[in-house]
Amino acid sequence: MSILILNGSPKCEKSDTLKMSEAFARGISDVSGGEIKIVHTAKKKIGYCTGCFICKKNGGTCVIDDDAAEIIKTMLKSDYVVFSFPLYCHSMPSSLKVFIERLMPLSSMKIVKDAEGDYRHEAQADLSKMKRIMICGSGYPGSKRDFELTEATFRRSFPDCGLAVCMEESPLFNIKDAEPVALPRLELLKKAGAEYAENGRLSEDTRAALDAPMIPEEIYMRFANGVK
Ligand SMILES: Cc1cc2nc3c(=O)[nH]c(=O)nc-3n(C[C@H](O)[C@H](O)[C@H](O)COP(=O)(O)O)c2cc1C
Repeated sequence: MSILILNGSPKCEKSDTLKMSEAFARGISDVSGGEIKIVHTAKKKIGYCTGCFICKKNGGTCVIDDDAAEIIKTMLKSDYVVFSFPLYCHSMPSSLKVFIERLMPLSSMKIVKDAEGDYRHEAQADLSKMKRIMICGSGYPGSKRDFELTEATFRRSFPDCGLAVCMEESPLFNIKDAEPVALPRLELLKKAGAEYAENGRLSEDTRAALDAPMIPEEIYMRFANGVK
C-alpha cells in the first residue's frame, strides 16, 4: 500500500495545505498501512506539454526528458494519490497545473464518450486501482464558490476522483496562536483519512465538520487585517 501526496504549493515543506494532506494521509495509513511519499511539484523540473501528441501514438512515452516521467511512474504505483494544493488565483498553482497537463501519456489518441456523455481520450495506462483525492486550502474565508469551480475542474480532469476536501482559512495551520483550532482540525482530517480508507467515503457528520470554518469569518477577517 502506498500513498503519494503531490503537493502543488510553492511553499513546499512549509505549505499550509501540505499539513492538511499529511494529516489525511496519516489517517489512511493508520487503517491501510503503507508509506507516505511526498512530491513537491515546485521543486521538480517539469516542462510544458508541447502538444505534439507523440505520447498518445507511441504507447505513452513523452518526448520531454525531465522529472515528469518519474512522478508519473510513482503515481502509477500508488494506491492513493492526493493532489494537494492551495487556491491560487481562484484555481491551482501553476507547477501542479503544468504537471497535470503532462499526464497526456496516460491516454491514447482514440477519443471515446464516457459514462457522462463527455468525450475524452481513452486510457492507455491502468488507473483503476488508484484512488485520486483533491485536498485544497484557501486564504480567503467563505471560499465555497472558488472551491466549487476548482473541484469541478479537477473532476473534469479526473472523473473518477474519489473525494475532494476543501478548507478555507488554511493559513491558520501555520500560526502558533491558532493551534487551539488548527490542531483539532488536523485530527479531524486524520479521522477523515481513516474513514475514507475504511469505507471509501466520508460520513455526513465528518463532511459537515470539515466544511465548517475553523473560526467565524468575522474573527478571521479581523485577525487577517490586524484589527484588535
Ligand atoms: C499567488 C497567490 C494566489 C492566491 N490566490 C488565492 C485565491 O484565489 N483565493 C484564496 O482564497 N486564497 C488565495 N491565496 C492564498 C492561499 O490559498 C493561502 O495562503 C493558502 O493557505 C496557502 O497554502 P500553502 O501554504 O499550501 O501554499 C493565494 C496566495 C498566493 C500566494
